Amino acid sequence: MKKPSPLVEITGTGRFLPDDIVTNDDLAEHLDTSDEWIQTRTGIRERRIAPPDMGAAYMGAAAARKAMEQAGVEPGEVDVIILATATPDRWLPSTACDTQALLGCSNAVAFDVIAACTGFIYAMSVAECYVAAGRAEVALVIATEKMSSIVDWEDRSTSVLFGDGAGAVVLRPANGSARGILSSHLGSNGDLADLLYRPGGGSAVPLSQQVLDEKSHLIRMEGREVFKHAVRCMADSCHVALQNAGLTVDDVQLLIPHQANIRIIAATAKYAGLPMEKVFVNVNRYGNMSSATVPVALDEADEEGLITPGSNVLTVAFGSGLTWGAMALRW
Ligand code: ACO
Repeated sequence: MKKPSPLVEITGTGRFLPDDIVTNDDLAEHLDTSDEWIQTRTGIRERRIAPPDMGAAYMGAAAARKAMEQAGVEPGEVDVIILATATPDRWLPSTACDTQALLGCSNAVAFDVIAACTGFIYAMSVAECYVAAGRAEVALVIATEKMSSIVDWEDRSTSVLFGDGAGAVVLRPANGSARGILSSHLGSNGDLADLLYRPGGGSAVPLSQQVLDEKSHLIRMEGREVFKHAVRCMADSCHVALQNAGLTVDDVQLLIPHQANIRIIAATAKYAGLPMEKVFVNVNRYGNMSSATVPVALDEADEEGLITPGSNVLTVAFGSGLTWGAMALRW
């Protein structure tokens, strides 16, 4: 099969993590849980939690500034901002517009993409289309999440899993470079929406005292079902993305999976045919930051020298929707 040439290149990455670290032992002080249970079932040791006055736009802008600095891009040069979040600062306007204002990217079109934990890969795919079609010279993709604002801190089955943070990348035309986005594969299945969702607080069930009393505006999840679908969908998506890129698993230097749970990561790597030595893991330090996990990991992997120019990197994610997707990159 002819290998596709990338049309779109990543020219900068950045991340932002709030300073406050909350350990499993901290949670166990007011929740019927333990460090041992959380580490064994999820691999999570600690997570970052944003202070009350810090929102998704602030974190996203902080990550974006670093990506723009690395890419050598000034705010006025950005043509489009595509922002993934499951935790918008407010329902109107989009968090992308709030972030645009913080960044001073006054020439950009800005909008949100909602695909939960798969949001970054969905947003990358939209941005790739913009740049490849010549509609944008500089695209900024941001994934930013304040998951601490949508979990029920009295529910031990969900609250221990999540954390806050943001990641960002700058995309530009590849102009003949061998580096960039090689392929992607996205999937959705709305029939399984109720496995992971927030039942109340939207337009179908507007916010009311009853919603607040029942806490139905917060995350509900069927953990075991989500687990099963996550592994199957992510492994399948990896195969399709690699096939579309004309690569095999042996060509992959690093798999960057969505960081939800170490057992999901290990099972996905196994079914995708990759050894754990080739899998990036930071879920122990940050927990599940939803859409932000992949770009934060990408930035850390680059900084740690785990990926160098020419490396084939496979990213994959899964989330509420259900949604899933994989993207093959040449670094
Ligand atoms: N501490 C102690 N005990 C707990 C905790 C906790 N934090 N949470 C649940 N338990 C208990 C349960 O009450 C249950 O007790 P019981 O046997 O007395 O009824 C027992 O532990 C087992 O519960 P299960 O839910 O069956 O545990 P499981 O092994 O399935 O692990 C987990 C739960 C970690 C949530 C797992 O199902 C999972 O990781 N699922 C995927 C969830 C996920 O990652 N979602 C996000 C992915 S998509 C996205 O990122 C949005």
